[in-house]
Amino acid sequence: MSIQDEIAKRRTFGIISHPDAGKTTLTEKLLLFGGAIQEAGAVKSNKIKKGATSDFMEIERQRGISVATSVLAFIYKDKKINILDTPGHKDFAEDTFRTLTAVDSVIVVIDVAKGVETQTEKLVEVCRMRNIPIIVFINKMDREGKDAFDLLDEVEQKLGLRITPLSFPIGMGYNFKGIYNIWDKNINLFTEESKQYITESVAFDDVNNPELETYIGTEAAKTLREELELVHEVYPKFNQEEYLAGELQPVFFGSALNNFGVRELLDCFVDIAPIPQPKQSDKRLVRPEEDKFTGFVFKIHANMDPRHRDRLAFIKVVSGIFKRNKPYLHVKNNKKLKFSSPNAFFAAKKEIVDESFPGDIVGLHDTGNFKIGDTLTEGEVLNYKGVPSFSPEHFRYINNADPLKSKQLHKGIDQLMDEGVAQLFTLEMNGRKVIGTVGALQYEVIQYRLEHEYGAKCSYENLNVYKACWVEATDNKEEFKEFKRVKQKFLAKDKHGKLVFFADSMFSLQMTQQKYPSVKLHFVSEWE
Ligand code: G4P
Repeated sequence: MSIQDEIAKRRTFGIISHPDAGKTTLTEKLLLFGGAIQEAGAVKSNKIKKGATSDFMEIERQRGISVATSVLAFIYKDKKINILDTPGHKDFAEDTFRTLTAVDSVIVVIDVAKGVETQTEKLVEVCRMRNIPIIVFINKMDREGKDAFDLLDEVEQKLGLRITPLSFPIGMGYNFKGIYNIWDKNINLFTEESKQYITESVAFDDVNNPELETYIGTEAAKTLREELELVHEVYPKFNQEEYLAGELQPVFFGSALNNFGVRELLDCFVDIAPIPQPKQSDKRLVRPEEDKFTGFVFKIHANMDPRHRDRLAFIKVVSGIFKRNKPYLHVKNNKKLKFSSPNAFFAAKKEIVDESFPGDIVGLHDTGNFKIGDTLTEGEVLNYKGVPSFSPEHFRYINNADPLKSKQLHKGIDQLMDEGVAQLFTLEMNGRKVIGTVGALQYEVIQYRLEHEYGAKCSYENLNVYKACWVEATDNKEEFKEFKRVKQKFLAKDKHGKLVFFADSMFSLQMTQQKYPSVKLHFVSEWE
């Protein structure tokens, strides 16, 4: 098979949702339809269960599971589907943001009763910024929830999407009768007996056909016809180009728990979802079909076994063919590396592979060479853009609590930061180290892992910071100098040596911006 054929076969995507909307259930059902697993319950949820004894102990346990579920691959209708797992817990949102740099599209799961929730808003915003094609799946239709049109309005408004339903529910909750599939023109009937099984659907080109009544009853048939007419009038016609450009988002309804509407979603997904896409580097746009391999690290899993310093770096293949035992250039370190046992992922297993193609994820055993965002090539010097850091929400000084173990502490902090657990800043004024995180939970994780994996102890001290802003140097040298002089107390360097301004309140941020208009402040570490 040519590389073009291999590329055309691949669909690499992520499922995102607010916790509990049904991401794990949907993932599992997709694997079930793909024949990758035989029964429900085979995919372990890597979310943090409610009522767990201690959240961070639970995270440690889940870290084991999440290596296996980081990439779930299966073949469906001759297409190779790669699902990249994203953590549901909000404190790990940054992990999800990074994973989004490696997907070509996403499916957003929304709970019909809860509607659009905060985590979904944040994640979709990141997808929109990058024009990632999005499909929306409204889940739990077997439960009472919001009216379909109200919910569609909410999705449009809160998520800022331009949507078009490709399926439409017939009733909901107790009266849920099934789904009319606008994309394939058929109805899929929901019966108690069909629960947990894969049901066949009835082809139905024309909803005006009187036979509809025999399937769903007079009342429901009348409502469905009216609703479909409204859908037709209100929403734009589906157009694949617009979807691929991130300008139009199709919506499906279903119930993942009941296998309902999942096959419709998957069938449409393999038809319309993007194949592996070109990616922008600091030098040029790289196309998947190019001869030479390039790829980048979007995730690192470290110290699964505390006795060995083992790390698994997850690489997304962007172009060419990744080959086992072939030397590749680690661009940042200017070092050639060879990998004798690269892992590929299939269903919930990993196995050693000889070749991987664009769109695939390869797991490379690493002894500490990789950082998130690093690029591998066959020799060309280029770096992929787009694994930015976002301003953390929490900030604390980190202190060494065991002076005899300061070497271990530094090494531990360094490696945990490479893994992307949190962000490290060094204050310009006095060199003190500050750890910034998305959630308070991370501080416990760091403390626990430093102790158990590196034998080091730390303590924290609160620091009042509202946002960390990356500073874009300005041509106005005088103003920049003055800014740095006056704000010296609030300046730090991030891990890559970039200048960061710690604003202690929204007010001080606004004042600073007013006072030094030429100094640009960004909430993200990379900007155009
Ligand atoms: P998440 O990964 O997005 O966090 O959600 P997950 O799939 O774990 O689903 C959250 C809860 O919602 C689970 O129940 C799951 O069974 C339920 N669920 C998922 N899809 C549907 C659906 O279509 N209909 C209904 N009624 N429920 C659904 P749980 O009680 O929290 O967990 P479990 O004990 O069932 O695993």
